[in-house]
Amino acid sequence: MSNIGSYEERCKDSNWSIAKRELSYKEGGRLNIGYYCSDRNCELGLGNKIALIWESFSGEVKKYTFQDLKIYSNSFAHLLKEKLGLKNGERIVIFMDKIPELYFSFLGILKMGGIVVPLFSAFGEESLLTRLQDCKASAVLTTRKLVPRIRKIKDKLPDLRHVVVMSEDEDIPVKEREMAFSFGQAPRIKSFECYPSTPETPSVLHYTSGTTGQPKGALHVHSSILSQYLTTKWVLDLRPDDIYWCTADPGWVTGTSYGIIGPWSLGITQVVLDGGFIPEKWYGLIQKHKITVWYSAPTAIRMLMKAGKEIVKKYDLSSLRHLCSVGEPLNPEAVIWSEEAYGLPFHDTWWQTETGCILISNYPGMEIKPGSMGKPFPGIKAAVLSHDFEPITKENKPGLLALRPPWPSMFRTYWNNPTGYESKFKNGWYITGDRSSIDEDGYFWFMGRDDDVINVAGHLVGPFEIESVLLEHQAVAESAAIGKPDPINMEVVKAFVALKPGFESSDELELEIMNFIRKKLSSIAMPQEIEFVDSLPKTRSGKIMRRVLRAQERGEPIGDISTLEND
Ligand code: PRX
Repeated sequence: MSNIGSYEERCKDSNWSIAKRELSYKEGGRLNIGYYCSDRNCELGLGNKIALIWESFSGEVKKYTFQDLKIYSNSFAHLLKEKLGLKNGERIVIFMDKIPELYFSFLGILKMGGIVVPLFSAFGEESLLTRLQDCKASAVLTTRKLVPRIRKIKDKLPDLRHVVVMSEDEDIPVKEREMAFSFGQAPRIKSFECYPSTPETPSVLHYTSGTTGQPKGALHVHSSILSQYLTTKWVLDLRPDDIYWCTADPGWVTGTSYGIIGPWSLGITQVVLDGGFIPEKWYGLIQKHKITVWYSAPTAIRMLMKAGKEIVKKYDLSSLRHLCSVGEPLNPEAVIWSEEAYGLPFHDTWWQTETGCILISNYPGMEIKPGSMGKPFPGIKAAVLSHDFEPITKENKPGLLALRPPWPSMFRTYWNNPTGYESKFKNGWYITGDRSSIDEDGYFWFMGRDDDVINVAGHLVGPFEIESVLLEHQAVAESAAIGKPDPINMEVVKAFVALKPGFESSDELELEIMNFIRKKLSSIAMPQEIEFVDSLPKTRSGKIMRRVLRAQERGEPIGDISTLEND
């Protein structure tokens, strides 16, 4: 049993003022995430404690204390504010692999009052362009490896004043509007006056995909730390001596809420692995660094299951104490398998980019029902609604998963898209876009998405974004993208393509189009399959009915097609 109190006890007295008290936050005062994650830990006497154990894929290890975190994030804050003249509220993009600079610069941007826009390092030029144009980014922090992708689109970004290229050496050739930066060579700034942000000052802008239109920027504010702090403490159950590993990339919300803010607001040591998935590497990492708490995703767990139990026996994983998962439905077999293989079950947690923190979870100590997402975080009201947005009281009846706002880490708007933001609220509920049911014991069961968004290994991909790029290919006349069920990745992208006259379908063309998407968007958005068709099912008003294609693909009933044009 954990030291955090039972779920039932917590439900009686939970409120966010507990986080305020524990973080010594005084109402009306300054609240800066950058300060809380670094300087405050030093003030509490944790300056010499290891904050970050970083390991490269080749096995090189670097360790940084909270004092280092403070100084290096100060260096970045100083660079951005004093040298580059960037102001609070400007959007500053981080486009890097999971290198130490990513973590230092994230805190540095927040310290100087900027809005951090983390972008996944696998993004291609088109994915970058739509996001950078939408937020009118003033600066991009990147690396020598990734800067060529920014150079390709720089001319289309008049608001982009600075591209900072991380390098061991500041003396490398750079182009117009670029500068090289080495945190090893930069002046060590011992103290930096943090921007006096208040709870409502914007902090992080995370892009996420919806059914329609281009990705939307979910804007968070500095008070999100209150939710991230308390959920990290109570759900991930982090304790002062833990060595914590979150496998997520900060290009996605798990990697910032629980890969930066949550653990460091609690002064916890965390491990970062810069590299992809190899079972031996992952188990070796747990063994080497004696990891105690591990936060991962169902796709990774399924891949570990595929690698088998024999390999588990080659490693000493006895340091592990608590395991959690997020991003996709965690299948019951995975929970049972992890109990057999590691002696510990994975605890499923549910949340979204928009919610900023875990809202439904298998709370430590609570009986796990394998396959269920668990129960709402103490103090959070969640419900399943009918299509007229009224709570369904009948047990086990599926409906729209909805939450009663507010909580501190709730997003405050979609950047440049207030209408899209408003459309997410009905009858005082925030409509999540997921379908769920609630059982007789109050456990929530995920039933699927209520929209066309595709979930590839825990990463949301918008069909519109893929279809727009498909149309840029010279051979494509019309297209539709859907999620096709996949035993490992949950879903993969499948595209239906009608060709322009003069083009013939072929394996070569399929491959060419797949690579076209991979390069322009990312490997996640790349269709794993392309079906060439003569035409696509459309409504009479000309809207492509992905629903029909999806049902056909899954062998499910097609439903009402009375509005279909070509029936
Ligand atoms: O559909 C749900 C799925 O991922 C969506 C949120 O994706 P994103 O905003 O990228 O954030 C991912 C990490 C927080 C949800 O609407 N999802 C997330 N967690 C679960 C889940 N689906 C089923 N079970 C989960 N535990």
